[in-house]
Amino acid sequence: MEKEITLQLIRVTEAAALNASKYLGLGNKELVDQAAVDAMRGMLELVDVKGKVVIGEGEKDKAPMLYIGEEVGNWSENSPEMDIAVDPIDGTRLVANGLPNAIAVMAAAEKGKLASLPTFYCEKLACGPELKGKLDINASVRENLKIAAAVLGLDVNELTVVILNRPRHERLIDEIRQVGARIKLISDGDIAAAIASAMPESGVNLYMGIGGSPEAVLAAAALRSLGGEIQIKLHPTDEEKEKFENLDVEKVYFTEDLAGGENVIFSATGVTDGDLLKGVRYSRNYAITYTIAMRSKSHTIRKVEAFHDLNYKTIALKSAGINVKIER
Ligand code: FBP
Repeated sequence: MEKEITLQLIRVTEAAALNASKYLGLGNKELVDQAAVDAMRGMLELVDVKGKVVIGEGEKDKAPMLYIGEEVGNWSENSPEMDIAVDPIDGTRLVANGLPNAIAVMAAAEKGKLASLPTFYCEKLACGPELKGKLDINASVRENLKIAAAVLGLDVNELTVVILNRPRHERLIDEIRQVGARIKLISDGDIAAAIASAMPESGVNLYMGIGGSPEAVLAAAALRSLGGEIQIKLHPTDEEKEKFENLDVEKVYFTEDLAGGENVIFSATGVTDGDLLKGVRYSRNYAITYTIAMRSKSHTIRKVEAFHDLNYKTIALKSAGINVKIER
């Protein structure tokens, strides 16, 4: 059953990427998001799960679809109960501006096994399997970089660290530069960046910095299969600290705390080209999509290049039902 669900999730993220890619470069990130959400929500109805969204588009009153707590899947009698995490597009601004690194992404795990963290910023440190258990988010940047270089058998100046290009990271960037590691600044999309740190061919060794907590859970879901690691600490604003009493900002969440259980399934489809995946391409009759899908039980990583014949291809949209042709 889980194996079939993996394939079904591939179809969900493919449809989200295809539908959102129609709005590439048009400068409207809301349209990009809506198109991906509509396709993801429509396609999820066909998936054999009794699913509940734990990471989604936000609270019910603000998000008409894929809100936290929404039931998704076909709820057929024998289907398993699963937690669902979605980010219909990680990097909506990227798609709106035709920039690299945007993906459509989702994960599923046994009921109760995906962390339902409040949607805050959090401090993140992600790395590949060789560095798992060797780094410490509470240690200094210098210390972590020295250890990473030693374990990977590299000089510090051969390490590549990815960071979101934000004013809040000025100090972190300075510290890394002082130690001498290389930095790759990205404008958005830190799920793909965290995952890339665990993929040898990406050329990226570490992901560091502050990004969204939902994105951390999705990255953790992929890192479970890749054998890599993410460590995070919540980084709420002063206002959020007041609103949510008893927040433990010192608690370190590790990969398994964010995406636990034996069976974590992950799928991401590229919308625009990036370190992790190529984006959607169109030729005369075809759209081509590139997806990476993983299942933690077997640690199988699948890369799926799909050719969609646009004369025949249909997807399900929540707004328009099943068998909807991709507009050309
Ligand atoms: P969205 O596409 O959902 O807006 O997220 C993009 C993103 O870059 C995430 O990858 C990252 O975790 C977060 O935004 C960072 O937040 P901010 O843009 O506020 O720094």
